[in-house]
Amino acid sequence: MVIRLISDSMRKKRINILGIETSCDETAAAVVADGRVIKSSVIASQAKLHEKYGGVVPEIASRAHIENIYQVITESMEQASVSKDDIDAIAVANQPGLTIALVVGVTAAKTLGFAWEKPLIAINHLHAHLQSAMLAKEKPKLPAAALIASGGHTCLYDYRSPLEPKLLGCTIDDAAGEAFDKVATILKLPYPGGPSIEKTAEKGNPDSIKFPRSMLGPDSLDFSFSGIKTAVLYYCHGQDMKGEDKVNSMSEQEIADIAASFQAAVIDVLVKKTQRAVARTGAETVLLGGGVAANNQLRAALQKLCNSYKPAKKLMVAPKQYCTDNAVMVASLGYHKFKAGLYTDLTLEAKATG
Ligand code: KG4
Ligand code: ZN
Repeated sequence: MVIRLISDSMRKKRINILGIETSCDETAAAVVADGRVIKSSVIASQAKLHEKYGGVVPEIASRAHIENIYQVITESMEQASVSKDDIDAIAVANQPGLTIALVVGVTAAKTLGFAWEKPLIAINHLHAHLQSAMLAKEKPKLPAAALIASGGHTCLYDYRSPLEPKLLGCTIDDAAGEAFDKVATILKLPYPGGPSIEKTAEKGNPDSIKFPRSMLGPDSLDFSFSGIKTAVLYYCHGQDMKGEDKVNSMSEQEIADIAASFQAAVIDVLVKKTQRAVARTGAETVLLGGGVAANNQLRAALQKLCNSYKPAKKLMVAPKQYCTDNAVMVASLGYHKFKAGLYTDLTLEAKATG
């Protein structure tokens, strides 16, 4: 049955993949044709629900996914003007992420795959973030050094094909986005922290405070951002943490200077590690994706790095609306796995790591 369905759909002009994403705090579904024609993208953000906690609460995220998933998938099909008969396969992010959040998308995808008799495709959420940097029209020269900086992960890859990015290094503690979120909480800036730090930093001096840049040795491609977060905490509360919370009495300028100096330190590390990855892989191109990729200063700093090579390297960045979690990237990568015949079955499980 599956073989007949696949050969039927291969003959059609366009391959339509329904993508489903629930790995963290966005419930998302999208229909993408041939891996790059975005027919719909629906995202139900839970930012408001998690705001007062300064981070994502897994149980609240899972419950909200359950409440939203049906509506989000229905809307994505309606916006794309497709019925189940037009869908060739269902791709779902099943790892890594919050297991009780992922399981909602995985269960929805398995149910639809079974009911509609469509192939099911398992997607690694981080590989999908990489794919979002490939949505541009032009094809990149490969290999590429690929940086994913998000709320849950910070990783570098040797990227030679969408199907098998090779992990070169990742964070050993906090992810870059997590550091932005935690520092925003320290500075009493609104959640999510990334956009509010970026905005506040616009008025600050990035050279005013020398926060530490953790490089983890001369050859490491791993990251560590917990030290800089603690440095900001000590700066605001004193080394012994017994001092007053100075943030309450700080001027707007002082807060802007901390935000700008923190942002500059994080970007410095991300850029230098990417430079190492370029040297390690002989990359022709640099790919950038993940929520932190929405940061204009990071985009500019990586562009500067790429321009510094002779000849210059090409920088490919995910379009802004596809930097943070979305299902377009899931459906787009699903297309490549569909073409390669990489299907999964109904035993698919959600996994925290991957
Ligand atoms: O990729 P994403 O939506 O979720 C995960 O897979 O984790 O990334 C969310 C993260 C949050 O930590 C958020 O603060 C950060 O991306 N972020 C930013 C910016 N926009 C979002 N960080 C820095 N600058 C931004 N403009
Ligand atoms: Zn993500």
